[in-house]
Amino acid sequence: PRVAVVFGGRSSEHAISVSTAGSVLKAIDRDKYEVLPIGITHEGRWALVSDEPARMAITDGRLPSVDHVAESTEGQVALPVGPGSREVVWSEPDTAPKALGEVDVVFPLLHGPWGEDGTLQGLLELSGVPYVGNGVLASAVGMDKEFTKRLLASHGLDVGRYTVVRPREWETEEGRAAVRERAAGLGLPLFVKPCRAGSSIGITKVKDLSELDAAIEEARRHDPKLIIEAGVSGREIECAVLEFEDGPRASVPAEILVGGGYEFYDFEAKYIDSSEVRIPAELSAEETAGIRRQALAAFEALGCEGLARVDFFLLDDGGWMVNEVNTMPGFTPISAYPKMWEATGLSYPELIDRLLQAALR
Ligand code: DAL
Ligand code: MG
Repeated sequence: PRVAVVFGGRSSEHAISVSTAGSVLKAIDRDKYEVLPIGITHEGRWALVSDEPARMAITDGRLPSVDHVAESTEGQVALPVGPGSREVVWSEPDTAPKALGEVDVVFPLLHGPWGEDGTLQGLLELSGVPYVGNGVLASAVGMDKEFTKRLLASHGLDVGRYTVVRPREWETEEGRAAVRERAAGLGLPLFVKPCRAGSSIGITKVKDLSELDAAIEEARRHDPKLIIEAGVSGREIECAVLEFEDGPRASVPAEILVGGGYEFYDFEAKYIDSSEVRIPAELSAEETAGIRRQALAAFEALGCEGLARVDFFLLDDGGWMVNEVNTMPGFTPISAYPKMWEATGLSYPELIDRLLQAALR
C-alpha cells in the first residue's frame, strides 16, 4: 500500500509533529509500504519533503521545521477533494500539475489545531481517503479541553474543578472581574491554558492571583478561548489505548517524573530536557487495573477510533482524575505512547503497521 505521511502544520506544535513524523518514517516497513512524505509548512502550504528522518529530530534543543526538509517551497502538494479520488498532485507556478499517483491511506501525524482537531479528518472524509486514527468528532472534542471535560464528566469520570473563559468575556471590564472571581474560587495554584492547544504551549502555573492576568494574556496568544483549572496534588500517569480487531485495549501505564527545577511538565521539561518517563509506572495491581479501565472509558466517552493517550493524575487521596485525551499522541523518540506499547509487548514498527492496517480495513 501507498501511505501519505502528513506532518508539520500551522499549529504551535509544528516542531513536535515533525519530530513525531521523523520517528514514524524510520519505523515504517519499507518492504510493505511505499511512503509519500508530505510536510505542511507553518503557513499551511503542503510540500513534498525529502525522506530524511534524521533531519526531522529535535537535536541539541533545536526544533525542526518542514522548511528544513521541504524539497521546494515553490510548489504545492494538493489532494483533490471529491468522492473516490485518492490522487495527489504537485503543482508549481506556471506549470501543469504533475500527478504523484494515488495513495491508499493517509497517516495524519499532526498535533494541535488544523490537523488533530477534525479539520484535516473532515477533508479526508470528503476526499474519500482512508486515514489513521480518530474521526472528525473525537478529534474535535479531544482538541477542546472544555468539551473533553464535559463528555468525560457525563460518563462519570473525574475531570477536576475548572472554569472556561470565553473569547468575548476577557474583553470587557465586567467580564474580566467575573473571571478573576471564578478563578479565585478555585484556590491556588491554578493552571491557565489555551483551550485548544497541546504540548503544554501557552500554559502558566499561577501561584498568586496577582499573576493571573499575565497568564491569561499569555494563553490568549494561542487561543481566544481559555480554561483555568484548579491545581491538584498527585502523580502524573498516562495510559495508551489502541484499537485491535476485537476492540480497544489499554497498555501498561507510564509515570511522568518531571525533572528538578520545573514547576510542571511544561514544553521544555517535555522535549528539551526530556523528563523521565517510568514504564511501567510503579502502581499496585488494583491501581493499574483502575487506570486501564478509566482509559478505556475515556476512549469510549469521546467516541475514539484507532488510538488515544489518556493522561491522568493519581490524586494523593487515591482517586483518579483525567487531565486530557490526546487523539494523536506524540510519537517522538521520547514520547510515552509508543514506549507504553513496547512495554506491553508491541514493538514500534508493529504498532505503526497495526495503525495503518486498521485504517486500510
Ligand atoms: N500533544 C503532544 C504531542 C502529546 O500529547 O504527545
Ligand atoms: Mg497533552
